[in-house]
Amino acid sequence: MHAQNLIDTAKTLMADHKGLLAMDESDPTCNKRFAKLHIPQTTEARRAYRELIVTAQGLGESISGAILFDETIRQQKKDGTPFAKALADAGIIPGIKVDAGATDMAAHPGEKITEGLDGLRERLREYFQMGARFAKWRAVIAIGENIPSRSCLEANAHTLARYAALCQEAGLVPIVEPEVLMDGAHTLEQCRKVTGETLRNVFIQLDCQRVLLEGMILKPNMVLPGLDCPTQESVDEVADATVNCFLRTVPAAVPGIAFLSGGQPGELASARLNAMNVRFKSRMPWALTFSFSRAIQQPALEIWSGKDANVLPAQKALIHRAKCDRAARRGEYTSAMESCAPAKS
Ligand code: 13P
Repeated sequence: MHAQNLIDTAKTLMADHKGLLAMDESDPTCNKRFAKLHIPQTTEARRAYRELIVTAQGLGESISGAILFDETIRQQKKDGTPFAKALADAGIIPGIKVDAGATDMAAHPGEKITEGLDGLRERLREYFQMGARFAKWRAVIAIGENIPSRSCLEANAHTLARYAALCQEAGLVPIVEPEVLMDGAHTLEQCRKVTGETLRNVFIQLDCQRVLLEGMILKPNMVLPGLDCPTQESVDEVADATVNCFLRTVPAAVPGIAFLSGGQPGELASARLNAMNVRFKSRMPWALTFSFSRAIQQPALEIWSGKDANVLPAQKALIHRAKCDRAARRGEYTSAMESCAPAKS
């Protein structure tokens, strides 16, 4: 058992008030984001964009770990350095997304189950050899009329736990990501209930599958009203609902909670994370940080727009968001920091 290595990696991922950068968009997701900005949807364009990210000067000051996609962990910088090595050289632990995506759950209209357990043991072995020291698996839970069902919550929790156990066997820290989606008109209270129920199921299954809690990270959603809900609570109300939900459901043995952004604008995600760290500073047994994709990357992607000439300003925008999020983890983020944001041309 690599228990101590797992514990050390999880601790390092949560150290120095840093957080994670999710850059593990699948090819179709990456292409969709590129298409909106008229960027060619080619392997080379995706490679060039990922090189922009991993070579951003100073990224390691705010980011402890970066989650790659299968295509990306096999790619290199123009000079031939594998991305995983470039990240490690910058003091950033490479990680890898290992789920095969969420598909329709049979007999459960509107609900999804995440696939990818077949052959996972072998894939994890290969990723470890390529330098990955942690992995990620995302389950998605939708809120709607009569959903989520009990069977959807149980099936996704069970799958997450089996993935997590396989990761730990391979020496990789599992990032356990049960995402309750923001789509819909549900209230903050409904999201709180569903998130609580989701997490209770997840931790029961993690225990059943003998997952070492000290050697994993939880990557949940914030507790938020649906995007179409007429009542949108304040930053402080969201912070209180979210952390109170976790205090009741996430064991103290878990070293860290690192949020997904789920499509929230970057500034709002920073402000909400900051409020949680300010309001619950002395009451949280775990580190509370970020593992954002869109909330860190979006401005940089828009500035880059596929043009070599925009690489430097795009990198500055990326570093700016990462710094704001690190400040939010310390409870030191202010909207004044945004006045230093690089402008879009
Ligand atoms: P977002 O921060 O864009 O939600 O992405 C995080 C992630 O890793 C989704 O699986």
